[in-house]
Amino acid sequence: MSGLFIVLEGPDGSGKSTQIDLLKNYLEKNGQECLITREPGGTRIGEGIRDMLLNPEFMEMSDETEMLLYAASRAQLIHDVIGPALDAGKVVISDRFVYSSMVYQGIARGLGIDTVEAINAPGIGQYRPDCVFFIDIPEEEGIRRKKQQKQLDRLEQESIDFHHLVSEGYRTVLRGREEVIEIDGCQTVDAIQQMIRDAIGKYL
Ligand code: TYD
Repeated sequence: MSGLFIVLEGPDGSGKSTQIDLLKNYLEKNGQECLITREPGGTRIGEGIRDMLLNPEFMEMSDETEMLLYAASRAQLIHDVIGPALDAGKVVISDRFVYSSMVYQGIARGLGIDTVEAINAPGIGQYRPDCVFFIDIPEEEGIRRKKQQKQLDRLEQESIDFHHLVSEGYRTVLRGREEVIEIDGCQTVDAIQQMIRDAIGKYL
């Protein structure tokens, strides 16, 4: 692995995709070859898994099935896309990674962070992110923004208590990790983008 692996994390509606698009433009203008991936999905198999995971018709899905499907989608993404790109020296920017599973399945579903890490380890192997931007926003604000955008998916339709667990879970799981940079998601889009650019400057 010789490329640069950047991950954006945060609750639903935290503005990750807007920031990723801006970052990709910036890096490409500076001559970096950049690849964006999204979780769940990003491969043919992963997109099939994504359809199952987010389909509101599958409300009976067990928490364990949910955890395993996210891990399976991720394993395929690393095998097909992230691993080869990093090995070729590219910059990979991922919209979510294993931290989402630790928070949503490990904490909000209650399956435990250790269990989630153990299930995901074989698929991830050596491909650990160089830096993780955690964009934090209050849960009510995240859901309000999502409702304006589109119909809510299976996870987004969960109760406000679930989203509260997710928000708290992010703070518990991500704070204090050396690869994590926390950003206040209530700032302007430009201010957040500037913080991200400043932080990755040292890797480029
Ligand atoms: P998506 O529409 O990609 O959400 P967003 O645009 O907010 O990133 O849907 C992904 C959903 O899946 C989101 O609600 C978070 C959830 N999720 C998990 O529960 N576990 C995971 O490991 C991942 C990657 C996502």
